Amino acid sequence: MTQQTGSAESGPSSAATLDNLLSENRTFPPDEDFARSANATQSLYDEAAADREAFWGSQAERLHWDTPWTQVLDWSNAPFAKWFVGGRLNVAYNCVDRHVESGHGDQVAIHWEGEPGDTRTITYADLRREVAKTANALTSLGLTAGDRVAIYLPMIPEAVFSMLACARLGLTHSVVFGGFSAEALRTRIDDAEASLVITSDGQNRRGKVLGLKENVDTAVRDAHSVRNVLVVRRTGKDVEWHDGRDVWWHDLVDTQSEEHTPEAFDAEHPLFILYTSGTTGKPKGILHTSGGYLTQAAYTHHAVFDLKPDTDVYWCGADVGWVTGHSYIVYGPLANRATSVMYEGTPNTPHEGRWWEIVQRYRVSILYTAPTTIRTFMKWGSDIPARHDLSSLRLLGSVGEPINPEAWMWYREHIGAAATPVVDTWWQTETGGIMISPLPGVTAAKPGSAMGTLPGISAKIVDENGVEVGRGGGGYLVLDQPWPGMLRGIWGDEQRFRDTYWSRFRDESGPIYFAGDGAKYDAEGAIWLLGRVDDVMNVSGHRISTTEVESALVAHSSVAEAAVVGAADATTGQGIVAFVILRGGGESADEGAELVKRLRDHVAKEIGPIAKPRQILVVPELPKTRSGKIMRRLLRDVAENRELGDVTTLQDSSVMDLISSGLAKPA
Ligand code: WTA
Repeated sequence: MTQQTGSAESGPSSAATLDNLLSENRTFPPDEDFARSANATQSLYDEAAADREAFWGSQAERLHWDTPWTQVLDWSNAPFAKWFVGGRLNVAYNCVDRHVESGHGDQVAIHWEGEPGDTRTITYADLRREVAKTANALTSLGLTAGDRVAIYLPMIPEAVFSMLACARLGLTHSVVFGGFSAEALRTRIDDAEASLVITSDGQNRRGKVLGLKENVDTAVRDAHSVRNVLVVRRTGKDVEWHDGRDVWWHDLVDTQSEEHTPEAFDAEHPLFILYTSGTTGKPKGILHTSGGYLTQAAYTHHAVFDLKPDTDVYWCGADVGWVTGHSYIVYGPLANRATSVMYEGTPNTPHEGRWWEIVQRYRVSILYTAPTTIRTFMKWGSDIPARHDLSSLRLLGSVGEPINPEAWMWYREHIGAAATPVVDTWWQTETGGIMISPLPGVTAAKPGSAMGTLPGISAKIVDENGVEVGRGGGGYLVLDQPWPGMLRGIWGDEQRFRDTYWSRFRDESGPIYFAGDGAKYDAEGAIWLLGRVDDVMNVSGHRISTTEVESALVAHSSVAEAAVVGAADATTGQGIVAFVILRGGGESADEGAELVKRLRDHVAKEIGPIAKPRQILVVPELPKTRSGKIMRRLLRDVAENRELGDVTTLQDSSVMDLISSGLAKPA
């Protein structure tokens, strides 16, 4: 049994500031039984420290290569990396066929459960057939290696079939989260010049059927690149039909041959583009390639989640529309021959115990989710999970935002029977796979800390000048050595790639990667992530840029100017708070309330419901520096009800009085 050491005082509150984080001194050393059979061992760290490239070379042996590589890493053209140079492989073959060939065709790959309660059991042999049929269907539509395919689907198995069929054919997929608006979908389709969109007639959400195909219809109206729309019938909802362009999945895919011979592609062949928010309004298409990405996804999934393919049931609660879904629902687990659970719906449909019912039904042993979800479960009450048999769980993971020690403790106690390891995993869309995390069975974990880099990964915390800070010090997180799953670029924008990630810091050997996160070393050298240092907000683990929301607001005819900040939020990590100046002014209080509602809906329509501001405050002025830059720091003080920080650099320091007095009125 793991012993809790150190102080047993209750953890800091969720508004975790640096000081209270550093007062956290509980440590959970690895359980001896767990450690005895853990996939990870101390020797991984030793091997990687002795020869990093040789270490990655041996991790790549997890995969089947049609042609072996001749060089592990070519970094001569930094920051453009080539991993496993000369190697050729098929990603889908690695995730599917080879498991069938090794005699595991009857093993369940996916226990899928729909929100209404329907289920599908998909074995590796089933998956091989479905992926082959889908690949044949995509070929029949004229798609060839290198073409881009947008996938805009709910959490149904066809999303996995589609991604793997693309991988199998060397098509580059761009999965767009089903919660994004038609407008957000359109910009992503246009940027990647996708020739096919795969969608469904609708999606189940909180017991209702919502449209999806209609967003595609709007999005592709002027998208000249799109030749076809492939539509899965999921809900039976009526859809508009465009003959010649739209094709039903059941007409096209279900009639295809179940045989398909995979072709090997270069290790650096583009696998997918995934859009994420940056500091400007335009989302960045993060590009990932094949061999290095799959190596890191497989290795981290094996070591961090301790997956035992013959006995574990693994569940990652993310959506395939995010990078967590790509690496830890699809590519990592399938490369490792995992048996996974995939769930379509929301955690409280039809009741707040839905997740625990699923854990009990499938005997889930490994669970991976986000702090915001954990805090929501905390709010609903520990009696809800207590009503279910969660004894199958043996490891818990967290991702997406800093986890406050209180949530970490609750997760371990109420979900993990006060016994399971909890791994807090730090990584990004750009990194492709987990970078910083304790290794279960090896690392003693502290609630709230991602602890240290994984074997093979190198990170540092540096000050403004790029000099590493000492223990107890804080600054910017940088990655000072290339890694196999690293992004290979921003789709169509080489300069933005260099500027965003590689121009802020360098060391003697060249440019180093700036992650955009603040971090601290504690007195023992453990890493504590502190959130973004740029204008990117993190709302329920979703990255949203302040400028994106500002652009949506000023696109509304009533708004003259807008400034958006992420304010601390006990459940969602950050909440979006917008300050707007109206055109012409003079709204009455009533009109104001109505308008605020309209503006919130407008943002949801422009970007998606995840970007809906928690609060919109109508103000007469915005605080600006003499050079005209909005001082978000002061607005954050207002949004978080804090005393105002330094106002001396304001062009007009009475502005803050105006804003504060304006807020007294109902808005
Ligand atoms: C944040 C999600 C603290 C961080 C995989 C990062 C975290 C951004 C953690 C990437 C963590 C992710 N602790 N912060 N364990 N995991 N983040 O691209 O700010 O959606 O830069 O990738 O989430 O978000 P993304």
